Amino acid sequence: MAITSHVFSTSEALADAVARKLSEHVSTKPDAVLGLATGGTPTIVYEALARDYRSTDFSRVTFFALDEYIGLPPDHPCSYHHYLWHRVLKPLGADPARVFIPDGMDDDRQRAAARYEASLEASGGVDLWLAGIGHNGHLAFNEPGSAFDSRTRDVDLNPVTRQANARFFDDPADVPTCAITAGLGTLKAHAREILLLVRGLDKAAILDRALNGPVTEEVPASMLQTMRVSGYFDQAAMPRD
Ligand code: GLP
Repeated sequence: MAITSHVFSTSEALADAVARKLSEHVSTKPDAVLGLATGGTPTIVYEALARDYRSTDFSRVTFFALDEYIGLPPDHPCSYHHYLWHRVLKPLGADPARVFIPDGMDDDRQRAAARYEASLEASGGVDLWLAGIGHNGHLAFNEPGSAFDSRTRDVDLNPVTRQANARFFDDPADVPTCAITAGLGTLKAHAREILLLVRGLDKAAILDRALNGPVTEEVPASMLQTMRVSGYFDQAAMPRD
């Protein structure tokens, strides 16, 4: 399946294009289902939404998050619950009953994963799902070697990922070692369209491998070549000749 790429010369233009696409979708379908991503890349989109698109009614939208750390309570400032509620869900007036974030605090991880999968199944599918990629090609927290048919589950985080995410924590040792993530197969089954956001020169090489390299479980994001994807990239992330 072809990936449609949009390339922007400024972060502001990229953020506005994605925020506008989400907002216009919700305007035509008030009970839309949207997927959210975390990390540094999408923050500009959430800022644009919270700043410029508050007049759109998001109260009937169902939201799914890709992943969550295991062992961080929802009110921990580095948890993805906290990140999403503060940056996007609360500003947009999301209904807590329509927000599904994997539960990294449930002692029974399989039960938490099954609950999330069941919610996705009941939603009828995610119209637009934001995603970024890690430097090692991870998608959500599906690290290299994750099966393309993997489902929501608990995973060990790769040292590369823990190191990359250490910037969000006071002490690098505080970065959790495990997470619960939507699987690659989960995304393939439930995401009707992925909005892939990639910014920065440091992502250019992995973006090139993901989009143009072999489709292999060693580069989880290469699975995107088999899905419907709209790419939103800045010029720095574009592969060089
Ligand atoms: C994080 C998240 C991913 C995200 C990726 C890139 O660990 N689990 O969903 O896409 O890594 O993050 P960043 O945008 O900070 O580079």
